Amino acid sequence: MPNILRELILKNRSYRRFYETDHVELETLEKLVDLARNSASAANLQPLKYVLSNNAQDNALIFPHLSWAAYLKEWPGPGEGERPAAYIIIVGDKRISNSFGCDHGIAAQSIMLGATEKGLGGCIIGAIRRQDLQHALSLPQYYEILLALAIGRPRETVVLETVRPDNDIRYWRDDNDAHHVPKRRLDDIIIPTSKQEADNVCKRLKKFAGISGYGFMSEILA
Ligand SMILES: Cc1cc2nc3c(=O)[nH]c(=O)nc-3n(C[C@H](O)[C@H](O)[C@H](O)COP(=O)(O)O)c2cc1C
Repeated sequence: MPNILRELILKNRSYRRFYETDHVELETLEKLVDLARNSASAANLQPLKYVLSNNAQDNALIFPHLSWAAYLKEWPGPGEGERPAAYIIIVGDKRISNSFGCDHGIAAQSIMLGATEKGLGGCIIGAIRRQDLQHALSLPQYYEILLALAIGRPRETVVLETVRPDNDIRYWRDDNDAHHVPKRRLDDIIIPTSKQEADNVCKRLKKFAGISGYGFMSEILA
């Protein structure tokens, strides 16, 4: 069986440049929110609500209040014609709860994976001028803006790579304008237990004993 989830996750990159005129149907956005609706929620409170935008007028209310790619200092964000065709704004309903835990992160990932499956792409945006966006969308104060999801048909190449020895995790663009994203190594993010660490030392010693011809050491360590 193909590794469907791994492939989808690898394809689900943060895209920040789009074919702006490729329309995203409202029905598509609703289907994406329905994935979030069926996702996990702390205490099953389901305090999240969603604002959907897929037309030039609403999109223009949202775009000015988002910040793009902080590491790309020279890049002001997507220009006209390459901006997202749609947005899903995730808000927390404070009438239901005052804290939203990581519900919005889970919801965002469900939505972005769904978008990727549909051949779309996008970017989770947390750097939002929240008060301004709240005002622009005439959102009542009992809604707390949590995340904005930019969605559209991607117009850029994103390359995943392993972080270099200097551990610099900043994304960068090459001469062909491809966007590179360094990811930390698996070994660097899994913290071994004491037992696993001891097992690893034994494994290394056994390997050393084998290579050096001290086979008897392997038996002692077994
Ligand atoms: C909670 C969260 C907030 C983010 N906020 C922003 C943001 O404000 N602006 C932006 O351009 N990208 C934002 N991103 C996208 C990250 O920069 C991106 O996930 C990271 O560079 C790794 O790239 P990848 O998603 O392709 O793996 C955010 C991602 C997450 C998960």
